[in-house]
Amino acid sequence: MPRALIVHGGAGDIDAERRPRCLAGCQRAAQAGWAVLARGGAALDAVEAAVAVLEDDPEFNAGHGAALNRNGEIEVDAAVMDGALRVGAVGAAPWLRHPVHVARRLLEEGRHALLVGAGALAFAAEHGLHPETPATLVTERARQRLAQELARQAAPAEVPTGDTVGACAVDDRGHVAAATSTGGLAAKRPGRVGDTPLVGAGTYADDRAGAASATGHGESILRVLMTRVAVERLAIGDPPEVAARHAVAELEGRVQGRGGIILVDLQGRVGQARNTPAMSYCAIVDGHLTAGD
Ligand code: GLY
Repeated sequence: MPRALIVHGGAGDIDAERRPRCLAGCQRAAQAGWAVLARGGAALDAVEAAVAVLEDDPEFNAGHGAALNRNGEIEVDAAVMDGALRVGAVGAAPWLRHPVHVARRLLEEGRHALLVGAGALAFAAEHGLHPETPATLVTERARQRLAQELARQAAPAEVPTGDTVGACAVDDRGHVAAATSTGGLAAKRPGRVGDTPLVGAGTYADDRAGAASATGHGESILRVLMTRVAVERLAIGDPPEVAARHAVAELEGRVQGRGGIILVDLQGRVGQARNTPAMSYCAIVDGHLTAGD
């Protein structure tokens, strides 16, 4: 069976000087995920490994470097889903570096699909995953972004995007998985949960068709169930590139949303689309790497 993996580092307005670092970060993440697939590992392990690399990278809005809420705090969302429709997700979880690992533990436990806030932290602690501090998670870029967003909110011009990180993969047994992680929107209200941890909105996987991870304005993405729409298009035979463009058109046409999506199908084909100025991504298909923004 063909093996493939694609990751994204978030859709939005990426400054020209940041683009090389975002591309390099996506390549490191894709290589970490591919290493799992190449040794015969599961798609679920591959997407978790790839997203953990992106969460560690201060360039991206997830984990270290996550966007700050309007109180200057980090509250993260993340989800993992496999093609057997198993899911684990956390929302508005304070100060976690690797919410993707917490989401994975929840998936494995199999009792609940989504934990939020203090409950997510308590579950994480039971699994040895503890919150960090501003000193280890907050970046200067995140502080600047909060200040800019608070100023922008005083005179709103356009819908912001919640850039996010994510990965989708298909393994050599034909199983798919997706994982997505984000700090959400800068200057969001405390307690806000976006599309990322919601099944079918920011993250979706189905062994009958493929897997998808979305990025962009969460309040728009969740209204059109963007990843579910995209995977349904794979199910009726669309190639991933076509399904990705369809999902972005749905986002824009139905709710005037901004964002992007990555997809993988059962044949090991990948696709991506966005309606923002940029979205860094990297794909590895049968060992061949492609990247862009
Ligand atoms: N797409 C990430 C968010 O809006 O939270």
